[in-house]
Amino acid sequence: MAGAGVPVKNPFLLSALALCLLLCAAAADPALTITVETDRPGTRINPAMWGIFFEDINFGADGGLYAELVKNRGFEFPDPWMGWSKIVPAHGQGSVEMRDYDPFDAANPHYLRVTTGFFSKGLGVSNEGFRGIGVQDGAACNFSVEARALAGKPALRIELVSGDGHKLASAKLGRFSFRWKKYTAQLRAHATEPRAHLNLIVEGPGTLELDMVSLFPADTWKHRANGLRADLVRMLADLKPGFLRFPGGCIVEGRDLANRYEWKNTILDTADRPLKMNRWNVEFKDRPAPDYFESFGLGFFEYFQLCEDIGAEPLPVLNCGMACQFNSGELAPLYRLDPYIQDALDLIQFANGPANSEWGARRSAMGHPAPFHLKYLGVGNEQWGSPYVERFAMFAQALKRLHPEIQLVAASGPDPDGERFDFLWSRLRELRADFVDEHFYRPPEWFLNNAGRYDHYSRTGPKVLAGEYAARAPNRENNLQSALAEAAMMTGFERNADVVRMASYAPLFGRADAWQWRPSLIWFDNLRVFATPDYYAQQLFSRNRGDVVLPVRQDGPASGPGSHPTLFASATRDEKAGEIILKVVNVSTNPVEAGLRFDGVAQASANGTETVLTAASLNDENSLENPDRVAPRTRKATVTVPDSSHIFPAISLTVLRVRAKH
Ligand code: AHR
Repeated sequence: MAGAGVPVKNPFLLSALALCLLLCAAAADPALTITVETDRPGTRINPAMWGIFFEDINFGADGGLYAELVKNRGFEFPDPWMGWSKIVPAHGQGSVEMRDYDPFDAANPHYLRVTTGFFSKGLGVSNEGFRGIGVQDGAACNFSVEARALAGKPALRIELVSGDGHKLASAKLGRFSFRWKKYTAQLRAHATEPRAHLNLIVEGPGTLELDMVSLFPADTWKHRANGLRADLVRMLADLKPGFLRFPGGCIVEGRDLANRYEWKNTILDTADRPLKMNRWNVEFKDRPAPDYFESFGLGFFEYFQLCEDIGAEPLPVLNCGMACQFNSGELAPLYRLDPYIQDALDLIQFANGPANSEWGARRSAMGHPAPFHLKYLGVGNEQWGSPYVERFAMFAQALKRLHPEIQLVAASGPDPDGERFDFLWSRLRELRADFVDEHFYRPPEWFLNNAGRYDHYSRTGPKVLAGEYAARAPNRENNLQSALAEAAMMTGFERNADVVRMASYAPLFGRADAWQWRPSLIWFDNLRVFATPDYYAQQLFSRNRGDVVLPVRQDGPASGPGSHPTLFASATRDEKAGEIILKVVNVSTNPVEAGLRFDGVAQASANGTETVLTAASLNDENSLENPDRVAPRTRKATVTVPDSSHIFPAISLTVLRVRAKH
């Protein structure tokens, strides 16, 4: 996958950049000038500024980031047969049945019994995986199962079989105890297949009972058992995210309170984590997902571990006693809010408490005695109205008294403006929330017209977490247009980094064959993954964050054909590298030449770099088949001081890095 630092391959870009080189060298006298006031450094940028937001939507966790390949491994879906089918040979004797008497684990009651006769051959079950099971040629998969043999000496044949019936790998287990016990085997496929299935065949005679049937690629992220898909985590790590907001989203709220996210259930043994229907299972009538459930195999411990792995500050969001107001809107009465607040207090102890505290000990027992250094906590997701204010106030009172070190993130509803939004902002200001979480899913044009939104925000009071945003055009995937619209807005975040202290795009993942919501930042199927142009915009901002904001001025004819400017710009200084970073979005369909001034710079190195994200058309997008159609390219750039000029290619995001002496 191409990224920052990759040489130019695209012929369109080659010619655009060659032209740019010529014109830059000519130091023309353009009407428009961009001035970076390096002698007037502004606010220090939060190192956690550019983050990511993860929710189990679009099969983002189960069937996605969580690398388990077996769907309904514990037979605990409401229909215990979902994902499974019986393999009954034409002349076989015996039976395959679901049972729940005397299970291996009372919290996981359903299991499978297979009884085979003397002449049975090939009796068993098959799991379809998540729209199939993806296996790579030569790659190992780790199989495990809880089993007991009640009669005879049955053996278990485990097979990975391709969509057209070819055996790709097999292993055999035998000598089963009559007590429940975990058995393991490794399978290595001899071909790549995106839609294999897993067959379990009991060879008799005898009675064999099976539960928690699991198959993971051996090559999970950091080779962890119960691990995450390495290719998907790499995509996250490559963003160098400053924080990870998890586990949602609406998923935190639940359609009703019984279905809210409860973090304590997600740190139990994996077999004990109580399954829930994923709210996106039924949310959209036109995108039903009847087999979408949350196993919580990716639970809070794994989220914290992921944050640590990728260097992101954890930002968990907890239910505040309110179910989704688009669904039931169920409220926990104020006199029954204590358990919700206690969950928050216990979470802080789970993350930060010493290993001999009650919840710190749980973390330690899971293999992490050291704290996770939690600093931020979200109270509710997209809540609104006075019921939210009342509940947030109770959370804040208890949490601030015991944990003044934790910064609380409050909700501002689902919209970035309007009565509900204004009401919440004024009340949250009074309540001295640390952060207000703003969400905007709006058309690209809205982003261009609102890129200056924070230029006029109050400099006092709560800071802004732009916790969910995406430029959405109806029925469109992400493309260059949405990426540039978001990038334009992000220049506004950056210019106002004293107000907008954190920002994350949403949603993060979309499973190409099982999504409910689009656009999304990263798309995948069983074996492949690709970044959208919007991902690259995020990456360019995050990887070129800088430490201090530098004011930027545009002089000259700044307006384009619409009501918004043609160029959107922001600048920062990277203190360690001694570089000025200038980000410019050109939304015009023509290249724009601008004069560049760096006030306060005595000398600039000729060895700057220029990274450009552009394409032939605003509609250009990436896909599983063509993942790098729109990707950033980096080349050397020469910038002279104090005056220079630069061509910003048509429909582009440019990041210029210039080494400068003062
Ligand atoms: O990102 C998808 C959804 O959008 C989130 O769950 C919710 O917070 C918002 O409405």
